[in-house]
Amino acid sequence: MSPELRKILSEARSVVVLTGAGVSAESGIATFRDPDGLWQQFKPQELANIDAFLANPSLVQRWYAERRRVVEEAEPNPAHRALALLDTVVETTIITQNVDGLHHQSGSRNVIELHGNIRRSYCVDCGGKSDNPQLDAQGIAHCRRCSGLIRPDVVWFGEMLPVEAIRMAYEATRTADVFLSIGTGAEVSPAADLPIIAGRHGAYTVEMNIRRSAISDFVDEIVSGPAGTTVPDLVSVVLDSRQTST
Ligand code: OAD
Repeated sequence: MSPELRKILSEARSVVVLTGAGVSAESGIATFRDPDGLWQQFKPQELANIDAFLANPSLVQRWYAERRRVVEEAEPNPAHRALALLDTVVETTIITQNVDGLHHQSGSRNVIELHGNIRRSYCVDCGGKSDNPQLDAQGIAHCRRCSGLIRPDVVWFGEMLPVEAIRMAYEATRTADVFLSIGTGAEVSPAADLPIIAGRHGAYTVEMNIRRSAISDFVDEIVSGPAGTTVPDLVSVVLDSRQTST
């Protein structure tokens, strides 16, 4: 971490964090595009779009049920916990592409979920929420109100992001003093555009990742290494500087 980043962190009034699957990797949740990632083993066109769901709802529901099981057994790791701690000393907004809910679980208050949450479901016909839907013998769940098909509340390919979530994400991004992009390959827009927008609006932009990503050439600084180590290190710099200055 450069002396410049240390100084900027000690003075920052607003930190905005974009997280991707890499921040949850050390909680045992697979990423998408790493060598052992989900999109290396499964085809998104068969599992993560509405046409695939309507053609074969049980295949899609069973795949999401298994991912939900993994997520429900997972615990926040030191990166999630450090970000929750950061929230206690400086205004922190977390914009996450993850659907695992681990930022909320670790105590972060200001979390914007861009891609939904795998723990929630809703009816494709009436839109009614349906938490904890039980799959029948065919691997399908039906709405208690209208009998429509229940689907996971995640954003699939070709779908709009939740309007309010993306509005809040742009707003926070434009006013950030520091913008941290943690554990994302930055290949999916509009999330991938946020670090660039933050930089244009004057934020100091930092990538924290185990390898280079699509935005590495456009950030001010790269902090290499696993998020479970680098994020607590960075947050301890902020905590130390705030304790010294009070
Ligand atoms: P990717 O799988 O594309 O990228 C994961 C990133 O995490 C890579 O850049 C890895 O190098 C990095 N990484 C892995 N382990 C790490 C660790 N321990 N510490 C730090 N970095 C680590 O996942 P996302 O960028 O999140 O969309 O993917 C974006 C979106 O694409 C997802 O939200 C999902 C997917 O299709 C939807 O489902 C809508």
